[in-house]
Amino acid sequence: MFKKFKNIAVIGSQWGDEGKGKIVDLLSKDADYVVRFQGGDNAGHTVSINGVRVAFHSVPSGIIHENTINVLGNGVVLNPSRLLKEISYLKQHSLMRGKLRISERAHVITTHHIELDRRSPISNKIGTTGHGIGYAYVDKVGRRGIRVIDLLEQGKDEDIKRLEEYICDTSALLQEGLEENKKILFEGAQGTMLDIDFGTYPFVTSSTTTVGGLFSGAGVRVRDLFVLGVAKGYVTRVGNGPLPTELKDELGKLLRRRGNEFGATTGRPRRCGWLDLVALKYAASVNGLDGLALLKLDVLSGFEEVKVAVAYKVDDERIMRFPSSIKILERVNPEYKVFPGWGDIRGIDSYEALPKEVKDYIEFVEDFTKVKVILIGNGPNRKDIIYKPT
Ligand code: IMP
Repeated sequence: MFKKFKNIAVIGSQWGDEGKGKIVDLLSKDADYVVRFQGGDNAGHTVSINGVRVAFHSVPSGIIHENTINVLGNGVVLNPSRLLKEISYLKQHSLMRGKLRISERAHVITTHHIELDRRSPISNKIGTTGHGIGYAYVDKVGRRGIRVIDLLEQGKDEDIKRLEEYICDTSALLQEGLEENKKILFEGAQGTMLDIDFGTYPFVTSSTTTVGGLFSGAGVRVRDLFVLGVAKGYVTRVGNGPLPTELKDELGKLLRRRGNEFGATTGRPRRCGWLDLVALKYAASVNGLDGLALLKLDVLSGFEEVKVAVAYKVDDERIMRFPSSIKILERVNPEYKVFPGWGDIRGIDSYEALPKEVKDYIEFVEDFTKVKVILIGNGPNRKDIIYKPT
């Protein structure tokens, strides 16, 4: 893909946990820079390396490739002690192969933020990860936050001293990269439906998870950018808040079991439901998606029928556009299009070889969202990705 496009942004197009880690892993071997631009260690990007699942929380997963420079941009919030633990884990397992750079402008998550997040009724209502993310951003916007550079200048914090070798002006670093025609991969965290502006507010995270966050959170004006949305063939959500197509029955449990839908950061079971195309079309529009990676279609194998939501109904009204009102979202009933199920698709390595039922499903997603599917996931391993000819 990098042969065609200079820079790529990988953006979660559902409620997080779409499989961005796998896509970033696939693309980062050809990238010069891999950049996180928002969020913090609430993220959990899982990559399967030699059959072992490794969850990255703060460090961009591009770090496993020798020639990459992995950046935590100014838009990220950073917990120094947890970051040090992650670095030491990666070093122990010989996975810290690329370079790491941390923005001196990034804001720091303190133990006070974590305590507030664990105790506050709002966090409890939302079902946050409890990592202090929201409260670090509250202090940032309230102009009383502590930045990495501030801690460094104070010279008292041992953790930040240990991170000093990685700290620099990452915006300037990336500008240089752009001038030298380097390839940048932006690794979005969480998902569009958790975006502070466009998500299901207030049941959201506290950062801009949509593509707009990239410019402010990395400090670069990227011209040649391909925006790749990542979605699963069904939806999941951790924490509270509306999930219109949620399956609260045995089918939901089956999806969770088969998809191994448990949080990489908190271990919490994820709520599961049918693919919501109303939400996905909205994500396509908000992010201006250029292409889609549609993952975990193997998890749907063996279902007699597979459903996708194509509209919502509230009272007697049929809604096609994703509503802003949380009150409406909590009351909507999805209208489904039903597809016949498909058999085992693991091991298939070309689009042509996929069963007709899967191709019909994928083509319907493309028609509905007006975005081309370019990557298809049909298994948990690195190799289980099919490139769809465009
Ligand atoms: P916070 O980001 O910890 O403040 O949590 C806010 C909401 O975002 C909660 O519903 C979390 O479960 C959700 N969330 C945060 N990070 C992730 C993620 O990486 N994947 C999925 N959900 C997340």
